[in-house]
Amino acid sequence: MKNGLSTKEFFVDPNIDRAESLPASAFADPEFLELELGTIFARTWLLAPQENNTEDDSANLASSLEKKGSRVPFNLLGKPFFLQRGQQGRLKCFPNVCTHAWHPLVESSSVGGSIVCPQHGRQFDNEGRFVAQAGFEKKKGFPRESDHLRNIQNDEWGQWIFVSTGEPLAPFREFIEKLQQSIPGIKLESLERQRVEGEVREVKGNWKQHAWNYMDNFHIRFVHKGPGGLADAVDLSSYRTELYKFSALQWAYARHGETGFEHRFLADRFRDPKNISKRVFALWWFIFPNITLNFYPWGLSVNVYMPIPGKPDKTLFLWYQYALDQEKFQNRNSTWLSEQVDAEDIEAISLVSTGAKSGFAPRGRFAPNEEAGPHWFHKLVYETVFNGRTKQ
Ligand code: FES
Ligand SMILES: [Fe+2]
Repeated sequence: MKNGLSTKEFFVDPNIDRAESLPASAFADPEFLELELGTIFARTWLLAPQENNTEDDSANLASSLEKKGSRVPFNLLGKPFFLQRGQQGRLKCFPNVCTHAWHPLVESSSVGGSIVCPQHGRQFDNEGRFVAQAGFEKKKGFPRESDHLRNIQNDEWGQWIFVSTGEPLAPFREFIEKLQQSIPGIKLESLERQRVEGEVREVKGNWKQHAWNYMDNFHIRFVHKGPGGLADAVDLSSYRTELYKFSALQWAYARHGETGFEHRFLADRFRDPKNISKRVFALWWFIFPNITLNFYPWGLSVNVYMPIPGKPDKTLFLWYQYALDQEKFQNRNSTWLSEQVDAEDIEAISLVSTGAKSGFAPRGRFAPNEEAGPHWFHKLVYETVFNGRTKQ
């Protein structure tokens, strides 16, 4: 038992033949969301916002952190943090909460030496160490460890910054290494952020419904059916789902070779030795628990399903686009159906969300040959929330 919720009620059997889905309450109950925020979302890597999301400042986070000594505040899941580029160039992350009486330390992006708290002047260095504060000279037993700022783990990958607010399940590199190996020909720094409408949206459905839908290829032939749908644009018979420890890849060949990747961008294993003209339509990468990195010949779509504390049936949907090839980027909606597929998914998930809250939703079963991805996701949620415990 944790938080009064019974482990058994949520158990997801590792055997797909026997497994039942997480119950509907895991998608609708505020108490379960609280539990997830303290477990899954404290033990995995979360994407820091692309823009500083404090009210007075909306500069790009990564570019505001290029200079030594630069610092930027941001919020993640309702909690305040700031990133600080140290004098050696290493990025640090700290809670944006003074250790004296809890005032925010960094109110907008800045570059400088020590950090001075606006409330009573406590000073910290760029490593988060307490330096000085008038009134605290020669105080006995001071500073204590808790008077310094706590280090929050973070990592940089390409132009993205990832943060783990607690002790992560594994280093960030373990979450991303399979993805990295799949795209040897794509230079991450060459991906150019493109501002588009609807980058940040509050949408219907629990965050897990979005991740579940992403991991579910079973719906493609229905929800994205042809003519003119994704089911037509890809060769569905070539569709593959690869499940790893903390990440998963789905990919398929394009129905029409010219809409696929040139071979030089991807690892050799994506070539069909029997038919070299086949080209990959997209690599759809999922990084547990809530990040998807979708590589297309036009570029990259980074999507994040952020829970909203206190609102289990809503998700903050982040939808960032990056161009690899400008000409193809302009055709991402006509050739690669970017907006169409997004709209079809959002609509389907909103309908499912109503079902989840209806009181009529039994635990589902998984079709073994079609739903290995959804089963993997449900199992990983269960294991992370309940700390790897098996059935009790
Ligand atoms: S709250 Fe920061 S110095 Fe008092
Ligand atoms: Fe879909």
